[in-house]
Amino acid sequence: MLVLAPARCRIWIASGARREEAGQNGVVSRRESGQERRGPSERSAIEPFYVMEVMRAAAEREASGLEVLHLEVGQPSTSAPQVVLAAAAEALANNKLGYTEALGLPELRQAISDWYALEYKVIVPVEQIIVTTGASGSCVLAFLTLWDPGARVGVLEPGYPCYRNDLQTFGVQAVPIPVGPESDYRPTRAQLDAVGHLDGLIIASPSNPTGTVLRRSDLQMLLDWSSEAGAALVVDEIYHGITYDEPAVSVLELMDQTATSNPTVLVFNSFSKLFSMTGWRLGWIVAPRNLMTPLERLAQNLTIAPPTLSQMAGTKAFQAVAESQANVERYRINRDLVIDGLRRAGITAFAPPDGGFYVWCDVSHLLSSEIPDSKALSTTWLDQIGVAVTPGIDFDPQRGHRFIRFSYAGEPHEMTEAMQRITTWIQSTGDQIR
Ligand SMILES: Cc1ncc(COP(=O)(O)O)c(C=O)c1O
Repeated sequence: MLVLAPARCRIWIASGARREEAGQNGVVSRRESGQERRGPSERSAIEPFYVMEVMRAAAEREASGLEVLHLEVGQPSTSAPQVVLAAAAEALANNKLGYTEALGLPELRQAISDWYALEYKVIVPVEQIIVTTGASGSCVLAFLTLWDPGARVGVLEPGYPCYRNDLQTFGVQAVPIPVGPESDYRPTRAQLDAVGHLDGLIIASPSNPTGTVLRRSDLQMLLDWSSEAGAALVVDEIYHGITYDEPAVSVLELMDQTATSNPTVLVFNSFSKLFSMTGWRLGWIVAPRNLMTPLERLAQNLTIAPPTLSQMAGTKAFQAVAESQANVERYRINRDLVIDGLRRAGITAFAPPDGGFYVWCDVSHLLSSEIPDSKALSTTWLDQIGVAVTPGIDFDPQRGHRFIRFSYAGEPHEMTEAMQRITTWIQSTGDQIR
């Protein structure tokens, strides 16, 4: 008997077939396929966030009973601070956990403002703070608020991949600004002037993946450039608090929040790193007053509000000074273990990080016809020695195939063991590589 599938069902089958036909990333251009629109959209055809793919491969290995040393993901191995856990338990027991305002819980916004006053001696009015679903949520809100399709926005290479990928989804052109060891991975004024008109620049300090911390003079240069170029400056300060020599300077320290002629500067931060709260999905943006209404309207419509439980508990995070400092001390130990271990393994082309918890290494000398790039190297290390690391193409599409990012956010014994395994692997495969 012939059964006619309902129209919706036919579309599903057709798009399923197209995904198969499309191959790995499941995306076929509508124009190329010549078919009428059935999705996925062209704007969704962005690069994966490769570290998440490595995480998945590592999880599959663990599910099959094999061990993995995690140096791939930028995720603290510690839990959220005790005060946060206690506040969450209390909120679960006593609160209905309804929506909050789209801008976030007033007491959390106040706690963030107080933190700026205490840590940076900067007045950040509560009215200029919006709570977000992590710095990732900040990217979506900020980029949509700042730039229309067709805008040109500078991103550093190497730099955090989601900036570039998010911009592409929004129809904004990500203009690469290559930085390297010659400038300690800092952009120069000459480079910014040379790339043509930009509508904005996105930069992280401390940087993921290089660990470079922008100095006061770097930030002043960026502010001057931003004013003169009429370009918005987005500074991602998610790794603030995790530095090894001096505290990182916030760009907000260099600005008079009450002045009327400030350049357009947005600052992101998050509870994910310093407070070990990656899964709580909580962050914030500090923005100029004239951008607060559009930010709020986008937040209302896109997510309504960040998770209430996280907001209630996160309000207490700033009290956890001792715990977060202990974590930073552990990262310092890990940093030294990894740096020494890499050198002993013969991996020497890296700049020791001043902040964050990553080392960005040139591994060209380990590549061969069997292992032609760092993606193949990371797959080999996961398969053969159970060490998960992130291939550099995530951070630099041009040169990243020669680089690996090591994350040292885990436990010291994992760092020691991973470095030992890599050293042994290099020694045992050295003859083939040479
Ligand atoms: C530089 C940078 N910005 C933003 C994020 C996103 O962080 P989250 O959304 O967890 O706050 C990350 C995560 O690793 C990051 O490294």
